[in-house]
Amino acid sequence: MPPCRGPPATGCRPWACTNGSTGSACEAASRLRGFGGDRITAAALPGCRARLSKTPSRPTKAGPVENHRALDRLPAEPAAQTERSMPHIVVVDPIHPDGIQRLLDAPGVTVDHPGNAASSDLAARLKDAEGLIVRGTVVDEALIAQAPKLKVVVRHGVGYDLVDVPALTKRGIALMITPEANAASVAEHALMLMLSIARRVLPVDAGVRRGEWRVKGQSQTFELGGRRVLILGFGRIGTRVARLCAAFGMKVGVHDPFMPAGTIRGAGYEVVKDRDEGLAAADIVTLHLPASDATRGMVNAAFLAAMKPGAVLINTARGTLVDEAALDAALRSGHLSGAGVDVLKVEPMVEVGPLLAHDSLVITPHVAASTAEGLQRMSWDSAGNAMGYLAGEYDIDAVVNREVVR
Ligand SMILES: NC(=O)c1ccc[n+]([C@@H]2O[C@H](COP(=O)([O-])OP(=O)(O)OC[C@H]3O[C@@H](n4cnc5c(N)ncnc54)[C@H](O)[C@@H]3O)[C@@H](O)[C@H]2O)c1
Repeated sequence: MPPCRGPPATGCRPWACTNGSTGSACEAASRLRGFGGDRITAAALPGCRARLSKTPSRPTKAGPVENHRALDRLPAEPAAQTERSMPHIVVVDPIHPDGIQRLLDAPGVTVDHPGNAASSDLAARLKDAEGLIVRGTVVDEALIAQAPKLKVVVRHGVGYDLVDVPALTKRGIALMITPEANAASVAEHALMLMLSIARRVLPVDAGVRRGEWRVKGQSQTFELGGRRVLILGFGRIGTRVARLCAAFGMKVGVHDPFMPAGTIRGAGYEVVKDRDEGLAAADIVTLHLPASDATRGMVNAAFLAAMKPGAVLINTARGTLVDEAALDAALRSGHLSGAGVDVLKVEPMVEVGPLLAHDSLVITPHVAASTAEGLQRMSWDSAGNAMGYLAGEYDIDAVVNREVVR
């Protein structure tokens, strides 16, 4: 193996090799690629173990990535891992390139991703996988049976309703998520839906495009300030929505039976113990709780009937929480004055159902988390979580089935 040669190309991270020579990350990486096909492994380079001279810097081009506990707990010096045999990580679905690059930059990690996969046969790709990163792929018993060495699955995002968690737990495989990465994006999306409905943005925009400058129905628009919002679920997203609503001057009530009342009160919000009383008082109800056996179909005809006449429902959580026929009926009767949804029961949407006939509905195709910043952070954290777990350094908060790591 010829020694690495500098100077580093523009934009490349400097590398130092154990044989004393220096080079650049892209130069070393391209050489390494030449060894194991598309797999990169320092072990394939006797006498030239490329070492990162510093911890990979967090990407910044799409915005700040602070508050990433998962990143903070990664080993400070990835170079230290070059001495051990590093594992094979398969990224099944396309993710932001920063996460892929983070994997490729890690010494000794072998990576199979949509851009370099040697085979279109998923079973063949999974054969040696110890880490798996998924975005929209269903992870069930049949899939993990194809991955006998699998130790960790990372779901890019926070919802894991496409993952058979008991099946992973039975095999001792950890499921990790990227907890904080998209919370701000989703919270802002919830506010965007509230504002779109409050100010009738879509019909007004459509009217102007038809040449109608004098807009009818403006007397139906309203300010968020002074309105009462009920937040169901005071987790990563619900807490952020509460802050944004408070900043708009809204009266914020929170219902979360699993959150200590003192935490909610301490944050400055009203604790709503009786959900139906909260529904009756709120002008806007916004859902930020997980889909589970306990919550599936929770927003049914009785739930909607308990809401204040003329109120608005916002759902950026999961479509399965809502009985869509009941929501259609509540919008048709005028009991609800509007609804903003980012998620449907069946995704991707297979047919244009009756819900879409309502002008009072604002709908987006499950994109609340998919801002430039959100996508970048989810990808970066997915890579960090997979490598961190396999190296024994990870944030327990990101592990869903903690029983496998106890
Ligand atoms: N639309 C998107 O793109 C998108 C992106 C990320 C997350 N999500 C969804 O947003 C939701 C919230 O995510 P998160 O990261 O804030 O989750 P989280 O786990 O941090 O918080 C969920 C909160 O809901 C509470 N909760 C559980 N059952 C409840 C109930 N019956 N009533 C009231 N509260 C209840 C929990 O105690 C917890 O505090 C999830 O459904 C997630 O799948 C959607």
